[in-house]
Amino acid sequence: MRGAYLTTLIVGCGYVGSALAGRLVDAGAEVLCARRRASDLPGGAIGVELDVRDAASLEALRAHAERVEAVVFAASPGARDEAAYRSLYVEGLRALLDRLTRFGAPLARAIVTTSTAVYGQTSGEWVDERSPTEPPSFSGRALLEAEAVLERAPYATCSLRLGGIYGPGRTSLVDRVRAGTLSLPPEPRYGNRIHRDDCAGLLAHLLSVEALPPVLIGVDDAPAPLLETARWLADQLGVAPPRVDADAALGPRRSASNKRCRNTRMHETGYSLQYPTYREGYRALLVAS
Ligand SMILES: NC(=O)c1ccc[n+]([C@@H]2O[C@H](COP(=O)([O-])OP(=O)(O)OC[C@H]3O[C@@H](n4cnc5c(N)ncnc54)[C@H](OP(=O)(O)O)[C@@H]3O)[C@@H](O)[C@H]2O)c1
Repeated sequence: MRGAYLTTLIVGCGYVGSALAGRLVDAGAEVLCARRRASDLPGGAIGVELDVRDAASLEALRAHAERVEAVVFAASPGARDEAAYRSLYVEGLRALLDRLTRFGAPLARAIVTTSTAVYGQTSGEWVDERSPTEPPSFSGRALLEAEAVLERAPYATCSLRLGGIYGPGRTSLVDRVRAGTLSLPPEPRYGNRIHRDDCAGLLAHLLSVEALPPVLIGVDDAPAPLLETARWLADQLGVAPPRVDADAALGPRRSASNKRCRNTRMHETGYSLQYPTYREGYRALLVAS
């Protein structure tokens, strides 16, 4: 342990993982960052090149495991198919945790980023960590299985169910509103979001908080229908509002999803959102662009 943080291995050091690594390094922590292409990692972190689906490449952990006190698994599959999800989140996570234990890692906690896709609710109802999880999609089912793998670990664990992540470089909604290419159905379908910097901030907080909740929803304070968010963005940008079209599909990933995720437990851990709603988050992006 160095400073306030345990020595942390971040596996899947991409959009969120790199932001987390940057924070931890800035706080003086020792950080190891793993991904398949370790050339592209934040400065100050120790790079480890590995593929969690490849047993031979996990040997790369042998040289570092004795220092690893905490692990954050924030990898995401390149392909959107069931085999890719299962091999990464279920088999890959299991292999990673087994290997760290076998190599003698003094693990005290592990956090896995899963998703609000584990909830199958479609009527705009509020859900929290105790709500039923009956995901209609293979992705939600694979993530639930990953959560079950994590739960069996003999140290403190947390499955962090993140909402849709947006932030610098992830501005597809802004771009479509600006280009006038978005059309949406009139009925409200609630979505749940979180800014990248809050994903990283919340993960850093969970690495140091005394009582780690086993399951936590990570979203902002304002679930909102996509139409509301898009209209607000159009107003900010001074462009025409998105077209409302009864036949418009929200896309295969979101077509049926309609729920409002409650973040009370997240607030109870003591975390304060940097961007409490999409308005603060997108306003910061628009100012920066
Ligand atoms: N994006 C969203 O809206 C959203 C919503 C809810 C939850 N989440 C979850 O949040 C987490 C972070 O998402 P993100 O947007 O930061 O993902 P991302 O930018 O795609 O980063 C994923 C990272 O995983 C690494 N990776 C992929 N396969 C790997 C493997 N087999 N072995 C080792 N590393 C591997 C990738 O690097 P290489 O290619 O170099 O290996 C990349 O650095 C993910 O777990 C995701 O499922 C995302």
